[in-house]
Amino acid sequence: MKIGCPTEIKPQEFRVGLMPTAAQEAVANGHEVVVQSGAGAGSGFTDDDYRAAGAVILDTAAEIFATADMIVKVKEPQAIERKMLREGQLLFTYLHLAPDPDQTHDLIASGCTAIAYETVTDAQGGLPLLAPMSEVAGRLAPQVGAWTLQKANGGRGVLMGGVPGVGPAKVMVIGGGVVGTHAARIAAGMGADVTVLDRSLPRMRYLDDAFGGMFKTGYSSAGYTAELLEQADMVIGAVLIPGAAAPKLVSRAQLSSMKAGAALVDVAIDQGGCFETSKATTHADPIYEVDGVMHYCVANMPGAVARTSTIALGNATMPFMLALANKGWRKACEDDPHLLNGLNVHAGKLTYYAVGEALGLDVLSPSLAVKQ
Ligand SMILES: NC(=O)c1ccc[n+]([C@@H]2O[C@H](COP(=O)([O-])OP(=O)(O)OC[C@H]3O[C@@H](n4cnc5c(N)ncnc54)[C@H](O)[C@@H]3O)[C@@H](O)[C@H]2O)c1
Repeated sequence: MKIGCPTEIKPQEFRVGLMPTAAQEAVANGHEVVVQSGAGAGSGFTDDDYRAAGAVILDTAAEIFATADMIVKVKEPQAIERKMLREGQLLFTYLHLAPDPDQTHDLIASGCTAIAYETVTDAQGGLPLLAPMSEVAGRLAPQVGAWTLQKANGGRGVLMGGVPGVGPAKVMVIGGGVVGTHAARIAAGMGADVTVLDRSLPRMRYLDDAFGGMFKTGYSSAGYTAELLEQADMVIGAVLIPGAAAPKLVSRAQLSSMKAGAALVDVAIDQGGCFETSKATTHADPIYEVDGVMHYCVANMPGAVARTSTIALGNATMPFMLALANKGWRKACEDDPHLLNGLNVHAGKLTYYAVGEALGLDVLSPSLAVKQ
């Protein structure tokens, strides 16, 4: 199979769909790999790194799309990229079709077969191609929160770990899933006094067992949240209700009960945010102040650490990418129902029920689509 990797063109996107080690594995499996010149630059990979891996460098995205059987990317194809997709071509990338009717219609019209990272599942009921980015955002949250707490950035001027004779920062993490667990680990590792709130008792049992008191857990009731809010130097929002907007767990009125210069890091901002005063910001201008409380609400946090994110995503996508290349998408999806769950579009038909429901479109059953 000829595998193509174009440069990402969405603003502020520095990741790349195929890292050199993945290209090398694909070549070792007998495939041809074509990479657009400069595609890896934002993640610190040079064209020579790809050449050394056995890939061929092409100048333009048009050449990549024209020659490749499978396109491997990070972000959903932009309008100009969608025009280059063709019938029978395989697209493997994040799509997020439900809120995006234009993209959905273009993909259907192209006749391509599109497998979305975000809907591939695993045997534990997780989303293995979303989890690495939650891990990155979770581990990054205390780091950016600690920076926000610094005086020059409008923060309270509190050091996460304190020093002998001065207590540590108090950190409340709301939501103990993938993001929250990684955030709590890092914040505790920095020496902060950390409490994770969740509504799932099994999850809190797991956290308590697995981390042996490294941080505390608490039930996410309105009353307990309000109590901890008053003491917090940093609050990390990490809740998710699948398929729904994030619940607003801290109101504007409650900000006045917080310490001046405290930091709110709303990782759930990509689902609308879990603080009433959250609005999405960018890496170029990440923080703002409301009622004396500093907010950090960057919607694509992993972009700040593009190299780590590219490698983390690449490690997760590589086995699926190789299965698609080695077996062809039909056999790969027939052999692996979790990969089949990633099938969103095939040959002019939508094949993912939740997207069909969201956009009012007919859906062809994915198990029938693989037979066509
Ligand atoms: N900003 C970014 O760059 C970025 C990157 C990755 C993920 N995210 C977002 O971070 C959020 C969390 O993702 P995740 O992968 O950790 O999800 P997850 O499903 O692993 O965890 C969510 C947790 O929230 C808990 N929860 C639900 N309602 C709650 C409530 N009212 N109070 C307390 N806890 C509650 C759930 O029990 C679960 O444990 C999502 O919105 C995700 O889209 C953002």
